[in-house]
Amino acid sequence: MMDDSNDAGARRWYDCCCIFDDSTEDERTHLIDRGLDSIHCHRFWIFLLMAIFLTAVSLSTYLLVIQGETPEPSFSYVPRTGWSSQPSCVNVSQLQLPVREMFLLPTNTSHCRNESDCLKAVRELETADLYNFVVTSDGRVYEGAGWSCPSAFGAFTVSVLGTLLTDVQVDKLGAFLEFSVERGWLESCYEILMEQPTTRYLSDAVLKLEETRNTRC
Ligand SMILES: *[C@@H]1O[C@H](CO)[C@@H](O)[C@H](O)[C@H]1NC(C)=O
Ligand SMILES: *[C@@H]1O[C@H](CO)[C@@H](O)[C@H](O)[C@H]1NC(C)=O
Ligand SMILES: *[C@@H]1O[C@H](CO)[C@@H](O)[C@H](O)[C@H]1NC(C)=O
Repeated sequence: MMDDSNDAGARRWYDCCCIFDDSTEDERTHLIDRGLDSIHCHRFWIFLLMAIFLTAVSLSTYLLVIQGETPEPSFSYVPRTGWSSQPSCVNVSQLQLPVREMFLLPTNTSHCRNESDCLKAVRELETADLYNFVVTSDGRVYEGAGWSCPSAFGAFTVSVLGTLLTDVQVDKLGAFLEFSVERGWLESCYEILMEQPTTRYLSDAVLKLEETRNTRC
């Protein structure tokens, strides 16, 4: 009994979806006579449309989530443990995140040419906590005091190694700042402060960074 009714049910579902595929002329006429728009067929089409709709909704949600995910950083990051044996700062007031004001300071040392050269130059800085981060001429970002403590200058300070800035250095500094904004560590309309008098290299770099920032602010 149950099997019979199930068969009939399956047959009706099949009729709804496959009438235009492989049924003969006679069968079609018969089915059309019986009334294609029976409640059963309505249910079938509603079910199908719902399924398509739900698939589309989940697909677009998925794409939105993928797009919204923070991209991988496009700069090389050297954590403090990768270059300094000094322990991380302790007993100091924590940085308030997100940071709004950033001091951009040159180290006034000569610029470096490659990774080992730059690592050496960073290690020659007085202390790991002198700056929050140091961006070297080869475009690497070295963690100093990092995001947890103020720098030795008392404020959030990013240093660019050397007096003249290389293009890659400015580009990677920009990528680092954008990444920090996306992560919520730096305010999206952050301010860049410089010591006066400043150099043309530094003010050109700041103009470039502010151009990117101004697309949001
Ligand atoms: C730092 O904190 C430790 C305990 O966490 C304490 O013993 C020490 O005296 C503190 N140092 C300073 C300079 O406040
Ligand atoms: C770098 O040099 C400039 C100009 O000569 C000076 O104002 C600044 O204090 C120096 N910065 C550091 C960190 O020594
Ligand atoms: C890196 O640069 C320094 C100085 O410019 C040079 O002496 C050294 O050989 C370079 N190292 C590599 C791996 O290219």
